[in-house]
Amino acid sequence: MLELSDIKKSYLQPNGENVPILDIPAYRMDTGEQAVLIGPSGCGKTTLLHIIAGITRPDQGQVKLDGIDLTQYSEAGRDRIRADKLGYVFQTFNLLPAFSALENILLGMSFAKKKLAHDRAKYLLDRVGLSHRSGNKPQAMSVGEQQRVAVARALANRPAVLLADEPTANVDPNNQSQIVDLIRETCEEDNISLLMVTHSMEVAEQFQRIDQLESINLVVSQARANA
Ligand SMILES: Nc1ncnc2c1ncn2[C@@H]1O[C@H](COP(=O)(O)OP(=O)(O)O)[C@@H](O)[C@H]1O
Ligand SMILES: [Mg+2]
Repeated sequence: MLELSDIKKSYLQPNGENVPILDIPAYRMDTGEQAVLIGPSGCGKTTLLHIIAGITRPDQGQVKLDGIDLTQYSEAGRDRIRADKLGYVFQTFNLLPAFSALENILLGMSFAKKKLAHDRAKYLLDRVGLSHRSGNKPQAMSVGEQQRVAVARALANRPAVLLADEPTANVDPNNQSQIVDLIRETCEEDNISLLMVTHSMEVAEQFQRIDQLESINLVVSQARANA
């Protein structure tokens, strides 16, 4: 379960101006719920995902993951909670080039028992249809295959919440729905809440819940109202 309240974030621009980006009074997702987040480029989608993941600290407000308020923790504490509760699929995959597909998934894990981690990594690799590529390094895989490894890595720890930031933006159109279906099905299997940013209306329309950042973010609606 994910619960945000009174989130504000502004960024200091190079010219010294402090520009408000987010002002979100409330936002929540239930356990296992799936939603897409849409909005024009630059409206703060990635900033919001970074705040939910504890990568970026909001200027104020609370971010609760399974009841734990991330904003109360130091950077090291947030890293620990993220490793435990959160999966993140980046637009550009961020796979480690020196490691194989299987190793990249294993690196996403914090299991104490090596054997369990290995079994889970192999299961996920199979689940994303890449058992036959387990020894390949990223440069020896297609872009779609790399993104599938990134999905498996993000799911490695069975997170409470999976965040995916335009996960199909760099994948060719023929493979986009495959990636989206894969993310949705694997989240469903483990009752993981899914929040996916997309530019594609085709992707968005597959979801029952479509959240427009502009309608939950007062910064944008105020800017509109003043325009
Ligand atoms: N580290 C930063 N410093 C200053 N401004 C930033 C920083 N990160 C993002 N921004 C600004 O915040 C706004 C929202 O960015 P972002 O969240 O990446 O938008 P989106 O993902 O919706 O395209 C943009 O105007 C961007 O220029
Ligand atoms: Mg973005």
